[in-house]
Amino acid sequence: MRSEVEPELLLHADQELGHALLVVNRIIQLGGTPVIKPSEWTKLARCSYEEPSDPYIKAILEQNLKGERCAIQRYQELADFTNGKDHSTYQMAVQILNEELEHENDIEDWLTDLARMKTDLQKLQ
Ligand SMILES: [Fe+2]
Ligand SMILES: [Fe+2]
Repeated sequence: MRSEVEPELLLHADQELGHALLVVNRIIQLGGTPVIKPSEWTKLARCSYEEPSDPYIKAILEQNLKGERCAIQRYQELADFTNGKDHSTYQMAVQILNEELEHENDIEDWLTDLARMKTDLQKLQ
């Protein structure tokens, strides 16, 4: 499945970078200072980072799914918190949230396909 998953995960990665830019720009617009020290990111983030040390596709997808679901929770919280109070931040949170939900959906579909392929192969044995 690598040929299918790899380009799509690269696209997800580009979109994640886009999310970071949207958030950073909004923080600056609001007069805040974004955290620019990478070592602080892992300390402050409420989603953990797991390095993809296991190259097996199922392990990568499961790790990724965990990350997407955590991001969904955070952007949902941001949307709830800003709803009716800060329209621009709310719109941004909803826009990002929708992309994270698409990411989650893509990964869930691959994991379903993988499980199905495994069952089919077992039937052949
Ligand atoms: Fe993201
Ligand atoms: Fe994502």
